[in-house]
Amino acid sequence: MLVIFLIPSFLFPLGDASLPLVINTWPFKDATAAAWNTLQSGGSVLDAVEKGCAQCEIDQCDGTVGYGGSPDETGETTLDAMIMNGDTIEVGAVANLRRIKNAIGVARAVMERSEHTFLAGESASVFAENMGFIAEDLTTDKSLNIFAEWLKGNCQPNYRKNVIPDPSKHCGPYKPITTLQQDNRTSHINIHSHDTIGMIAIDQAGHVAAATSTNGLRHKVPGRVGDSPIIGAGAYADSSAGAAAATGDGDVMMRFLPSYLAVEQMRAGADPTTACKMAISRIKRHYSEFFGAIICANTTGHYGAACNKAPSLSTFHYMVADSASDTPLLKSVNCF
Ligand SMILES: *[C@@H]1O[C@H](CO)[C@@H](O)[C@H](O)[C@H]1NC(C)=O
Ligand SMILES: *[C@@H]1O[C@H](CO)[C@@H](O)[C@H](O)[C@H]1NC(C)=O
Repeated sequence: MLVIFLIPSFLFPLGDASLPLVINTWPFKDATAAAWNTLQSGGSVLDAVEKGCAQCEIDQCDGTVGYGGSPDETGETTLDAMIMNGDTIEVGAVANLRRIKNAIGVARAVMERSEHTFLAGESASVFAENMGFIAEDLTTDKSLNIFAEWLKGNCQPNYRKNVIPDPSKHCGPYKPITTLQQDNRTSHINIHSHDTIGMIAIDQAGHVAAATSTNGLRHKVPGRVGDSPIIGAGAYADSSAGAAAATGDGDVMMRFLPSYLAVEQMRAGADPTTACKMAISRIKRHYSEFFGAIICANTTGHYGAACNKAPSLSTFHYMVADSASDTPLLKSVNCF
């Protein structure tokens, strides 16, 4: 049901806030709508972020979430996801999940059907199957094609280093070289390999939840886990402060726990945009050209975003739905 409110826009000046709120990384509008509709029909904030991320898993958002995307070095698609309850600080996460399409559902099952926080790899898939998730092949014609092209192009881009044969020119198998070379990492990560949906939901009563889902980095070394399922890196939620979710070059970003940092900044009184910028700035100090962005929201429903100006990113797009809009709106922020 679409309800259109005719309210003069001056009643909602820039920077005003209204709850409930759903906000997510990238222009994944159907995910925003799924989360928003879940809240509108009485679902909890956890239901909302789960449904929102699940929608992206079904839609294969940009090929970066869900099955059939981002094949690893062996051609397999594996999934990472995380969900966090900001009231109880409970978390469920899965990494390197094989054969199961609904990674965010499995993450929630880890939280609700075990005392654990994080399951990984083949064992996580067995847990999921035991909990009733259907085992399916995550490979599609599209992912097979991406894999075949990569092989044909001498396995480029390639994330190995300090091995022979030279990974910037040749496919494996690789062996370690004895003397480590200086790391001249030039990131292969860009808008086409960006790697996640991160989502925050806050309801009228101030309950906060966050979630992420991704199929990781295209052509990753098998077993690679990015920032998305890492608590405090891919996302963080605390109903007494707010929530944040990050996206981009996860291998670098996870080292700085940007989502945790942003939430702590908001707890200390920073407004969401400033908190987001502080988290990006911390990474910038060490990796000036890293590819990445973060969204932040505080408990009154104020929100903001920030991104690092990089060769492949000058503007970052994200989605917002709140009671002022009642429909997902595309927002953008200029990177700094
Ligand atoms: C990396 O950069 C350093 C310093 O600029 C240089 O001496 C070295 O040869 C470079 N290594 C590679 C593998 O390009
Ligand atoms: C959220 O951020 C806005 C904008 O800076 C601020 O006015 C508001 O007081 C903040 N809310 C909380 C609960 O800190």
